[in-house]
Amino acid sequence: MSAPTVRTAPDPYAHFKRAAGEYAVRFVESGMVVGLGTGSTAIHAVRRLAALLQEGVLRDVVGFATSTATLREAEALGIPLLPEDLPRAIDVTIDGADEVDPAFNVIKGGGGALLREKIVAQASGRFVVVVDERKLSSQLGMSWPVPIEVMHYGFASQVRFLEALGGQVHLRLTTDGRPFVTDNGNWIVDVNFGPIRDLDVLARQLEGRAGIVEHGLFLHLATDLVIAGVDGIRYLPRPQSTAVPASR
Ligand code: A5P
Repeated sequence: MSAPTVRTAPDPYAHFKRAAGEYAVRFVESGMVVGLGTGSTAIHAVRRLAALLQEGVLRDVVGFATSTATLREAEALGIPLLPEDLPRAIDVTIDGADEVDPAFNVIKGGGGALLREKIVAQASGRFVVVVDERKLSSQLGMSWPVPIEVMHYGFASQVRFLEALGGQVHLRLTTDGRPFVTDNGNWIVDVNFGPIRDLDVLARQLEGRAGIVEHGLFLHLATDLVIAGVDGIRYLPRPQSTAVPASR
């Protein structure tokens, strides 16, 4: 397993990503506040939402972006947006993921937006995760490291801490070899823990450490899963979730 870099190469899964992102917009209804995810899958939901607003199929929807990249795209597409202090609760958020386990726990942060993504996911009534089938995993950590946003103040001590937890730590770099800087001015380390036996324990250890701003384990948050693959789209609700609304 190698640390992810900022992705620019053509993506053979682009078709599935688009299918999953667009499908999930059926969970949006007129009048809703919608969390707009980040990444090459979630962006298709943003674009589809903009098209439905333009066509008048949806009305009075306001968005709330999980990154400056998504914010710029949503602005360019004409989606009305809430101010940054989030004055209203979010009805539904549609976002991608890097790895998803059978209990709907996910690793996020491949795009470096994990802090804002988690703020938005936690503020959402419904959190719809959209992925291509390659992201499915029997145990988190098998195919993706855990992205962790850290302050650069005291950075080396965070590396020692994460290594003591059994992780292999890679500072995320941009293509020109400089540390990747998040929208919040922090760095990202991608930490390979291998298959993670106890997600809640690891999450608590990371949350207890000053200087670790946020981690990419999104546990017990996803309410719905949309998976696109060679056999088409699969929709999986968490058991307590409501049925799929009619298609738009
Ligand atoms: C952004 O920080 C991430 O959490 C993305 O949502 C995640 O990495 C999935 O990205 P793709 O849809 O581009 O694979």
